[in-house]
Amino acid sequence: MLIEFILLSLFKIFSVIATPDGLLQKGAFTVQQQTSRRTSRWSVPSSIYRTYRKHGLEIPPDVKSAMARQSSTTSSSVTAKSVLDDTEYVIKVKVGEQNLTLNLDTGSADLWVFSTLLPKSLTGKRTAAQIYDPKSSGGKIMSGESWDLSYQDGTGAKGQVYQDKVTIGDHLTVPNQAVEAASWVSEGFASSDDADGLIGLAFSDQNGILPNIQKTWFDNVRGSLAHPSFAAAIKRRQPGSYDFGHIDASKFSGSLAWTPVVRSGYWDFDATDFSFGNTPYKNITRVQASIDTGSGLWYLPRPMAETYWKQIKDAKYSPHEAAWTFPCSSSLPDISMKISGKRLVVPGINMNYQQASVGGNTCIGGLQPDTQSSMTSYIFGDVFIKGMYVVFEHPVGGKPRLGFAQQK
Ligand SMILES: *[C@@H]1O[C@H](CO)[C@@H](O)[C@H](O)[C@H]1NC(C)=O
Ligand SMILES: *[C@@H]1O[C@H](CO)[C@@H](O)[C@H](O)[C@H]1NC(C)=O
Repeated sequence: MLIEFILLSLFKIFSVIATPDGLLQKGAFTVQQQTSRRTSRWSVPSSIYRTYRKHGLEIPPDVKSAMARQSSTTSSSVTAKSVLDDTEYVIKVKVGEQNLTLNLDTGSADLWVFSTLLPKSLTGKRTAAQIYDPKSSGGKIMSGESWDLSYQDGTGAKGQVYQDKVTIGDHLTVPNQAVEAASWVSEGFASSDDADGLIGLAFSDQNGILPNIQKTWFDNVRGSLAHPSFAAAIKRRQPGSYDFGHIDASKFSGSLAWTPVVRSGYWDFDATDFSFGNTPYKNITRVQASIDTGSGLWYLPRPMAETYWKQIKDAKYSPHEAAWTFPCSSSLPDISMKISGKRLVVPGINMNYQQASVGGNTCIGGLQPDTQSSMTSYIFGDVFIKGMYVVFEHPVGGKPRLGFAQQK
């Protein structure tokens, strides 16, 4: 016993000291999702807009005109009723010496933050503690490197790159993570007060630093984790959690359905054999899906999404919301599909996304069609993920895969 204990202790000490890249601790830990400090919520058209823009897709005309209508009125944002509305899943990340609130986004690969390089007018309501200051933490500038996530429509962010220490979960530190410090953000980015930046956990080959792309935080730590994975357990209208370096079997029922990642760069997989309620949908048998925690809604091919909503009495497409809407009192059927042969269910309640901004009894659907038919990979955002336990695994030198189970 004693010898075992001593050996174990020695091993622990050894593994801490021996980590070649200076990582503090080999680890497995869980971070709770933070409560959003947002005071208003994104409208559905702006959520759709941001998803299309992020993925480089053409913005549907209805979304463009809904956005134009919104920016011409001042009352477009709706005060959130719950403390945590479902539109962002943010966690605490220590960047340099500061605790920042970052949006964890599996659909992009940049870690960018509001920084002291920004003029005061572009930092919104953030306090000094919420704005990354590379000087005070001793962040090292990566000279010659820069980043630019600005879009054709004039929105976006860009800036310089620093190497700094980035810690998630109090223990696991990457000592020289590429941190993208914004020196410019567009108006819309500045005024949204929900997060101090974003931590992208798609694959490093999608990173936007030029001329030399840099590794994501997960890519930097995965070799040091007890298990080379992170897992999302996000919930509807309550804080969920992310597990790094371990799979927490107490959070899901049954076993995980493992499926390969089918597109390089993104967490894409194949879903088959969809059913709406008890009715199988036979017309499209396979959908390539991209798991994106940074997108709110769930997108399916147009004929599929329309078939779902046409089952609901008085559901209709609203050009005003650029989305399908339905009477809030409707009961909505579950949607199920097979992943690697195992049937998984998205509860019908998830398809009730939020109340429409006009008309008290009208609600907006969480499932929407890709009206442009421009997605080759359909964005499976938070509406799909809530209620699932999703493991993002990428062994060093191995192939990435996704694991799915039903949350308990
Ligand atoms: C960051 O959060 C930790 C608790 O997780 C706390 O101990 C520390 O003081 C905080 N740091 C700052 C600068 O607020
Ligand atoms: C079946 O799929 C085709 C091709 O995607 C589509 O054009 C058609 O509208 C679909 N029909 C139904 C009933 O979903």
